[in-house]
Amino acid sequence: MKKTTIVAIDGPAGAGKSTVAKTLARKLGFLHIDTGAMYRAVTLAALRQKADLKNDGELEKIARGSKIELKPGEPENKVYLNGEDVSRDIRTPEVTQASAHIASSVPVRKILVSRQQQMGRVDSSPYGGAVLEGRDIGTDVFPDAQYKFYLDASVETRAQRRLRDLEKAGVATTLEKVMEDVKARDERDIHRAVGGLRKTPESIVLDHSHLSVEESAGELYQFIQQHPR
Ligand code: DC
Repeated sequence: MKKTTIVAIDGPAGAGKSTVAKTLARKLGFLHIDTGAMYRAVTLAALRQKADLKNDGELEKIARGSKIELKPGEPENKVYLNGEDVSRDIRTPEVTQASAHIASSVPVRKILVSRQQQMGRVDSSPYGGAVLEGRDIGTDVFPDAQYKFYLDASVETRAQRRLRDLEKAGVATTLEKVMEDVKARDERDIHRAVGGLRKTPESIVLDHSHLSVEESAGELYQFIQQHPR
């Protein structure tokens, strides 16, 4: 039987990974797995239960008890937590902020990484492959992925995108403030003791600051077509 094809897309927050991954998965006919949404769903569950975000034991229990489903949807994919549609609730600034604690929890990462591996290997089999996006896909989740991309963009570009999203959501802020937030998130993502954001020697590093989502996804798609593995 042919091995499932895994496409790993890692990179910092706001580099456009989600939309690129979604578009690429659609072009390839693959399953799209947004791993950040899974960390966000556990964060939401922890906030709702007023958990101590520094207590690994509590967080582990919450992660185990959280059934997370990712379902394709337009324009956005849907995220369900224990059967409830939380697609919007997981995108609030409060969840974004608190997610750093959940992402640093070793037991939570173990649980989520193992679910992601299962989803990539098993759930994607009818599709022939999966596109997973996150921070540690090429390093920890699927170190043997056939394709590893590292999607980068300048702090300014990422902050501008984030500012647009926040404005759409009715949040009043400034570019300077968002740039500070983006830098702080990079620091946390890179210096996390486990599952930190890293390139692998075989990662294909792309800076798509000046490309549209369609162009970015097109470039990745073309690379995959030209390099069958
Ligand atoms: O990509 P995002 O902003 O939706 O990610 C939400 C949080 O989860 C963020 O704190 C980074 C973290 N994360 C992670 O630690 N590992 C992943 N594979 C994906 C996201």
